Amino acid sequence: MSRSPLMLPIRLGSIDLPNRVIMAPLTRQRSKQPGNVPYELNATYYAQRANAGLIISEAVQICPEGQGYAWTPGIHSAEQISGWKNVTEAVHDAGGRMFLQLWHVGRISHPLLQPNGVDPVGPSAIQAKAECYVQEADGSHHKTPTAMPRALETSEVSDVVAAYAQATHNGLDADFDGVEVHAANGYLLDQFLCSNSNQRTDEYGGSLENRVRLVLEVVDAVIAATGDSGRVGIRISPMGTFNGVDDANPRETFSHLLRELNSRDLAYVHVNRPDWVGGTFEGFDSLLQALRDLYDGRLILAGGMTAESGAEILEDGLADMIAFGRPYIANPDLALRIKVGAKWNEINPATLYGGAEEGYTDYPTMK
Ligand code: PHB
Repeated sequence: MSRSPLMLPIRLGSIDLPNRVIMAPLTRQRSKQPGNVPYELNATYYAQRANAGLIISEAVQICPEGQGYAWTPGIHSAEQISGWKNVTEAVHDAGGRMFLQLWHVGRISHPLLQPNGVDPVGPSAIQAKAECYVQEADGSHHKTPTAMPRALETSEVSDVVAAYAQATHNGLDADFDGVEVHAANGYLLDQFLCSNSNQRTDEYGGSLENRVRLVLEVVDAVIAATGDSGRVGIRISPMGTFNGVDDANPRETFSHLLRELNSRDLAYVHVNRPDWVGGTFEGFDSLLQALRDLYDGRLILAGGMTAESGAEILEDGLADMIAFGRPYIANPDLALRIKVGAKWNEINPATLYGGAEEGYTDYPTMK
């Protein structure tokens, strides 16, 4: 039996976690069609992973415009809400806890994924150097470069904020234990944060305060919708360049954001390492230390860690919890394996996205 600090319980906002092993949000593109509806297979997959201290759902579009990949689930229709209710019930019955990740992809999309085939929206009409995943009218599907976005009108920004609030209400109706605002990885909120994707001249662009404004408005709307900031987390990816974002001064941007978040008393801030997709990011560890020092609340760190390196980070006090993504795909019983020091299954990259049981609910547990 290991004495890993990953096995220590922790109070996270308004909920108690039995351990510090978090299941990271993971896009799997396996909702029921038509309608991007979660169904029994998804409930089985998440319930298998209820051993995590907390499950964070895959990224879930808050409105039809928020979708950037075929077959990802939403939380904007009645059918989706009822599908998610079955998922959370299965997770709760298996002894777990689950947050809903609120997702708007912004410019990481394509007319084939948008209502009425219009262009996706973003902070500015700047095309991302990135790909999304589309299904054609004939049923064929493939990766494709993301489209040139249309810049949101200033008057439309409040509609986006309202969509986050509505999705939060929907998530609570579906019995999620809380929600995570996805402000990472080059999606809509990160596009507003980062200087190369946000060249707006209204109050949502330009200065540091203006670039951070939308994220704070969304966080405040989501807190108001839950009525409990202890059920709200946020995910960020300082220094990240995934999906074509590149901020000129991530230390300044994310320090400002976290200082502002200090007064919101959130359940947690979840930091995704920029090297989760590979590459080297000089200075990230010192940036993380600086953010840790100035942020008063709980911190989750995600990205390419092992049981050993995750435990070390907790011992060094750099984070309070560790989120595991790919290891949780391949190991439904990951927290139990960490507890007893068991070996981990390898992931099969061919079955990550789309499909059904294979590579989803058929990874073996320990003997
Ligand atoms: C993806 O679908 O590849 C994806 C989704 C959400 C993320 C990162 C990657 O935060």
